[in-house]
Amino acid sequence: MPYTNLLIDGQDGILIVTLNRPKALNALNSKTMAELRHFFAEDAPKREGLKGVILTGAGEKAFVAGADIKEFLALDAQKGQDMARQGQDIFFLIERFPKPVIALVNGFALGGGCELAMACHLRIATPEARFGQPEVNLGLIPGYGGTQRLIQYLGKTKATELLLTADMLSAEDALRHGLLNAVLPAGEAMELAKKMVAKIAAKGPVAIAKTIEAINAYFQYDVDGFEKEVAAFGETTGTADFREGAAAFIEKRKPDFKGQ
Ligand code: CAA
Repeated sequence: MPYTNLLIDGQDGILIVTLNRPKALNALNSKTMAELRHFFAEDAPKREGLKGVILTGAGEKAFVAGADIKEFLALDAQKGQDMARQGQDIFFLIERFPKPVIALVNGFALGGGCELAMACHLRIATPEARFGQPEVNLGLIPGYGGTQRLIQYLGKTKATELLLTADMLSAEDALRHGLLNAVLPAGEAMELAKKMVAKIAAKGPVAIAKTIEAINAYFQYDVDGFEKEVAAFGETTGTADFREGAAAFIEKRKPDFKGQ
């Protein structure tokens, strides 16, 4: 699929995916969502040597300012449900991606943009980033997982405040409330994101994938997270990577993981 709204770049197995509609503050229109689905479902899993993905927004102002409001006038109740379901499914692809996906939030992350950042495994922001779920201003509620994930990150008290008032959080406040891993100026933020992907890529790939699965299980109502951990632990102990990791520790050398 040739991408129109995503720029895909990067080297050494670290892909930088830039949402690229800066004139619309990178709002998620249906084409961008289709491209995100294709990237995470079809494209990225087939890329040889992929270590991880860094998602960011083009331009000075925004990571993503939400779903594209200009497409909203065509919605009715059924189409709205379909849109939310499809959007949630795409964000689950990101949350369940077996390699790290880091959001580098370089400006407004509002509505679907905040939801996109929250679906990533880790979040690094620049000081000018702003986070919020302003849907109630439009007579809407979040549809891409915002009512659920904001509570997971912030707790019920602060999340309820933001969801009901549509207030925004500054990057510093988002860090303080547990939404972010770090706040740094743009260049340093990108360097840290790349370093984190590289650091994670040096671990056992099966162990990383299984850790992501087990973390996600904590938030799935229909899955017992402890049982998931038992199963995933067993799967990792059955891998050649585990034998290599343990042997390397005992032999006081660096492990050479093969992802098996
Ligand atoms: N959809 C479509 N276009 C958008 C957009 C969005 N979510 N956000 C910004 N834009 C467009 C504006 O319409 C404007 O385009 P034009 O120049 O053609 O008029 C351009 O981006 C620049 O925006 P502003 O002039 O508004 O920039 P600003 O600096 O004055 O304000 C802002 C920035 C505070 C982010 C403001 O643009 C804003 O409030 N945007 C909407 C945020 C929002 O409500 N997001 C939630 C959407 S609903 C959603 O996401 C539902 C869901 O969960 C799936």
